[in-house]
Amino acid sequence: MALWGGRFSQESSALFKLFNDSLPVDYRLIEQDIVGSIAWASAINQVGVITVQECEQLQQALNELLTELGDKPELILQSDAEDIHSFVEQSLIAKVGDLGKKLHTGRSRNDQVATDLKLWCKKEGQQLLVLLGQLRVELLALAERELDAVMPGYTHLQRAQPVTFGHWCLAYVEMFDRDISRLQDALKRADKCPLGSGALAGTAYPMDRVKLAAALGFASPTLNSLDTVSDRDHVVEICSDASISMMHLSRMAEDLIFFNSGEAGFIELDDQVTSGSSLMPQKKNPDALELIRGKTGRVYGSLMGILTTMKALPLAYNKDMQEDKEGLFDVMDTWSICLEMAALVLNGLTVNRERTLQAAQQGYANSTELADYLVAKGMPFREAHHVVGEVVVVAIAKQQPLEDFPLSELQGFADIIQGDVYECLTIESCLAKREALGGTSIEQITQALAVKKST
Ligand code: ARG
Repeated sequence: MALWGGRFSQESSALFKLFNDSLPVDYRLIEQDIVGSIAWASAINQVGVITVQECEQLQQALNELLTELGDKPELILQSDAEDIHSFVEQSLIAKVGDLGKKLHTGRSRNDQVATDLKLWCKKEGQQLLVLLGQLRVELLALAERELDAVMPGYTHLQRAQPVTFGHWCLAYVEMFDRDISRLQDALKRADKCPLGSGALAGTAYPMDRVKLAAALGFASPTLNSLDTVSDRDHVVEICSDASISMMHLSRMAEDLIFFNSGEAGFIELDDQVTSGSSLMPQKKNPDALELIRGKTGRVYGSLMGILTTMKALPLAYNKDMQEDKEGLFDVMDTWSICLEMAALVLNGLTVNRERTLQAAQQGYANSTELADYLVAKGMPFREAHHVVGEVVVVAIAKQQPLEDFPLSELQGFADIIQGDVYECLTIESCLAKREALGGTSIEQITQALAVKKST
């Protein structure tokens, strides 16, 4: 039986019921719905709607429901209840009879669903923070293993200047650290309890909403009932945080796919996270990374979905908002598994140091050093840049690295060049010079790693 049958003389059409029911999606809120109901029972007891004994009886039955059904979605999904809130209420009534019908006094499914969803976001958000932390640990371990493995750094996917693999790892640590702080920030804003806002105008019972919020583990209650039942900012924010984090994951995946390519050959991925081809026996495909890259699109889609659903919705609750959960749940599931997968990929990744070093030595990644050398000898940088450009043209034609040019030939480009030029063209010198904060010198990376490990 529907919760709202009294005003109606006809049954819902089967199609409408299928269309309207949200149980197949929101069954995942069972724990939060029951926990919210337990707190609500105390709240209505405190304003005299039910006695202490009734409250205890309701709470005991709700706890039993949690044990019996909390981890059994298959049992919940057998029900034809409209949504998880109706399901819990029906199951409660089946246990305690008419007393169960008192629980919804002063409450609406509008403040109830808002509460359930925020509780769910808070719980799942904490789990995501753990997973982001674990990925960070893997990146730091890899940074430590490969701290000084020299490789080319790229701009425009052209070899630009040498960096180290440790520096590359720590770049992603910065991104995931921002993701962590963004999610923590969103969770702080979501930490306000909607319960006691009623359908839209507030509850008609003199509740202590501060106490109710505390009982549910919220920092404080929300402050405007109209806003409360129609606010889904937390869903938008979490989908947005997830999208930004997936963007980072997809960039990391893309870098690694490139590093793993036959052309680069910089890394080897573990067999555990790659697959073969059904046709080509030689293949070892970076599927895990490609899927991370691919799933990023789904997460962006859900962000657009919820933003568009919420656009121009009038106050207060509208059924449109029931569409918030499918995307959010998928976002959190996808984000979680991608973080776990990325951590596993990093765990089994090895760097082919000869290949990365060789690549760093090729491609004239030390051209800037030659220009800086000329600057040190008194030439203005713009002029030095031009001179080195001319050297590189000849070097490319001869297929010869800069350091292989005899001194006399270099002096033909600029007579201020002396024998000490070769020292500054070495990879070691390229790296060592980047010693200002944030640079790729081994010293800087060692310090950066120590700082990251201690925070
Ligand atoms: N299933 C609904 C949702 O997810 C619960 C709130 C229903 N409220 C209502 N007045 N019909 O949004």
